[in-house]
Amino acid sequence: MTSPQPRSNVAEIPPYVAGKPPTVRPGMTSYKLSSNENPYPPLPGVVEAVQAGVGAMNRYPDMGASALYEALSRKFGVPAGHLSVATGSVGLIYQLVQAFCDPGDEVVFAWRSFEAYPIAVTAAAATGVKVPVLADGRHDLDAMAAAVTDRTKVVLVCTPNNPTGPAVTQAELDAFLARVPSDVLVVVDEAYVEFVRMPDAVDGIATYRRHENVVVTRTFSKAYGLAGFRVGYAVAPAPIAAALRAVSLPFGVSTVAQAAAIASLERQDELFERVDALVTERTRVVTGLREAGWHVPEAQGNFVWFDLGERTLDFAAAADEAGIVVRPFAGEGCRVSIGETEANDRLLAVAAAFPR
Ligand SMILES: Cc1ncc(COP(=O)(O)O)c(C=O)c1O
Repeated sequence: MTSPQPRSNVAEIPPYVAGKPPTVRPGMTSYKLSSNENPYPPLPGVVEAVQAGVGAMNRYPDMGASALYEALSRKFGVPAGHLSVATGSVGLIYQLVQAFCDPGDEVVFAWRSFEAYPIAVTAAAATGVKVPVLADGRHDLDAMAAAVTDRTKVVLVCTPNNPTGPAVTQAELDAFLARVPSDVLVVVDEAYVEFVRMPDAVDGIATYRRHENVVVTRTFSKAYGLAGFRVGYAVAPAPIAAALRAVSLPFGVSTVAQAAAIASLERQDELFERVDALVTERTRVVTGLREAGWHVPEAQGNFVWFDLGERTLDFAAAADEAGIVVRPFAGEGCRVSIGETEANDRLLAVAAAFPR
């Protein structure tokens, strides 16, 4: 008897390895530094906005997410028709690959980068073309441009790069865009944009305004601290935004998620106070690690990368012993989120005691 079979690509989809929750250790507070989450509670007014939405759970959400589009449109000075919201920016990555790739079409991205990229690409039966990052964790944009062929439909640029940390500069992005054919979609994944502090930082919104083939994806999961509510948005020329909306899951972004995102957008001052505090902590951690002899790459997101090779799992185990759970990539390295001050202190202590 034969049974229903998924498409052959489904068996090839790599699993998504989510950051582990912290190990419970009696008498010790444990910290989760494995998913690049925000250690702060929701911004003021967000819980109240969500509570107001909870009472309406018997109704579908506003499918047009009109109030959220209006708020984003006002914030960025872009027409609502240039926006598309989804269940996290990971949802947008899936939708972009689905909307722009036929089976076998190529999607170029850096590696190692965000682990959902090969998953989204394989799920769409497209072909991933992985271009190794440079030794310092930066995108090799020259090699990525050279990897574009006439089968390439999409290029994913992750800036800052998860998990290695560095961001590309505007000059690098401009030079790259000048080399990429105009019919290739370039996705600038700015999930961590609010944490970037560097000269010549990419201005994704200005870049999309200058290019018909550029889409910027962002999220409320990181700086805004709404990871559990799943809201991301894309800013793109109207035809790309329309394609995204066409393939989107109807009613994907819940009523409470829309309410939380809108309320968060109204609290930019408090948002940046928190982001600045996390950036200060990031600087403290990176400085401390370098003083202790670690060669950590530039960290422009809310996380830091340890290039550990074969010692990766040993480092993760040492961190776990100290009550912090990190995200190991076996054989490569560990990504550690910037968290509570105490958690960051423990990371510095673990790293100081671990052989370089
Ligand atoms: C680079 C990058 N892009 C996108 C995402 C997706 O975030 P979300 O789906 O929560 O918006 C993440 C999450 O870790 C990420 O690291």
